[in-house]
Amino acid sequence: MKALCWNGIDDLRVERVPDPAILDPGDAIVRVRLSSVCGSDLPLISGRMPTMKPGDILGREFLGEVVETGPAVRHRGRGDRVIVAAAIGCGKCRFCQTGRSALCDNSNPQPEWTESAYGHGTGGAFGSGHAFGGYAGSHAEYVRVPFVDHNGIRVPDGIPDETAVFVSGAVPTGFAAADMARIEPGDVVAVWGCGGVGQMAMRCARLLGAAGVIGIDRRPDRLEAAQMKAGAEPLDDTRVDLFDALQAMTGGRGPDVCIDAVGMTAEGTEGAVLRAMVACCRKGGTLSVIGDHAGHMDRFPMGAAVNKGLTIRMGPPDGRHTAERLFGLIGSGDLDPSYLMTHKWPLDDAARGYHMFRTRTDNCMRVVFAP
Ligand SMILES: NC(=O)c1ccc[n+]([C@@H]2O[C@H](COP(=O)([O-])OP(=O)(O)OC[C@H]3O[C@@H](n4cnc5c(N)ncnc54)[C@H](O)[C@@H]3O)[C@@H](O)[C@H]2O)c1
Ligand SMILES: [Zn+2]
Repeated sequence: MKALCWNGIDDLRVERVPDPAILDPGDAIVRVRLSSVCGSDLPLISGRMPTMKPGDILGREFLGEVVETGPAVRHRGRGDRVIVAAAIGCGKCRFCQTGRSALCDNSNPQPEWTESAYGHGTGGAFGSGHAFGGYAGSHAEYVRVPFVDHNGIRVPDGIPDETAVFVSGAVPTGFAAADMARIEPGDVVAVWGCGGVGQMAMRCARLLGAAGVIGIDRRPDRLEAAQMKAGAEPLDDTRVDLFDALQAMTGGRGPDVCIDAVGMTAEGTEGAVLRAMVACCRKGGTLSVIGDHAGHMDRFPMGAAVNKGLTIRMGPPDGRHTAERLFGLIGSGDLDPSYLMTHKWPLDDAARGYHMFRTRTDNCMRVVFAP
């Protein structure tokens, strides 16, 4: 089959590779129909997250059709239209059972990487390097999905592929950012980063009761989408004093909730966004960190965070756990992620697509590949 392979830092190529096969009884093979780029791919491509090996297949946000199942699969079958979230869960451990599949005890066959770095092994994930199990990603014609009864989420009829594909990544990730912040009615929520994840965090913050949402970025096209599509007040942090602007927009208090939807590839330094969030957040407010971070962070303002009485919530989302609720919001017309797909290209053009996404040219929010 054809797949987009990482061959070294910033070296991506579409190549012929062997088709995936059923390896465990709970596996399925899924024929990919759409596979989206995601901000989480960027540190893998650039070597900032140094856990890739040459030949690894990228891609972690996808929709497809089940074409083959292993003998232990009970609830999914040939022809099912499914989305699959990045984090792989076994479905049986205490974490999977409580909606935290990314922390799964059983899905990462190489837990020693995260055990030595983090103290405990994390779960596996598609196309996310060898610290997360070395699973082949979805920028390919076919993908092996382990524990498919748990990880293959059926898409309700009537929701088109172009909308549903984002319920595997940007939508549940943005929702988790807003949900874990425990927004109260009347809160003002500031979101750093207006990429696909930030857009969905802003929209979901509104749905969860925020009275006002502020979207912070420095790309005019993304700020415009934040305003027009996600109902946010846009703020270009390179044109204002961010602290002063946020205080002025919140009656001198500061935002009640600050969300990091930028992560480790923040322009400036990795810590810039988190430091700004601590400084700008109102006393007693909440920080919600959904952006990916991998190693250590320098100069975290612990004193300010403690003495302002901030609450910090963070962690990877569980796309499986919230899918039904999110499909419901899409079905009722309250949420529409389809505008994230600014480009739909053949898989053959995937290397060029990543170049466009990384350099944020041609107003690219997300490019989606169709094998
Ligand atoms: N844990 C998960 O499962 C998961 C899933 C998806 C995304 N994520 C993470 O969420 C984050 C966002 O993902 P995305 O797909 O929207 O990424 P993206 O790259 O499309 O968007 C990031 C945005 O941040 C903006 N930005 C960069 N530096 C900034 C700064 N200093 N201040 C303000 N804005 C800045 C960029 O202009 C861009 O618009 C990433 O860290 C990604 O890894 C996590
Ligand atoms: Zn598990």
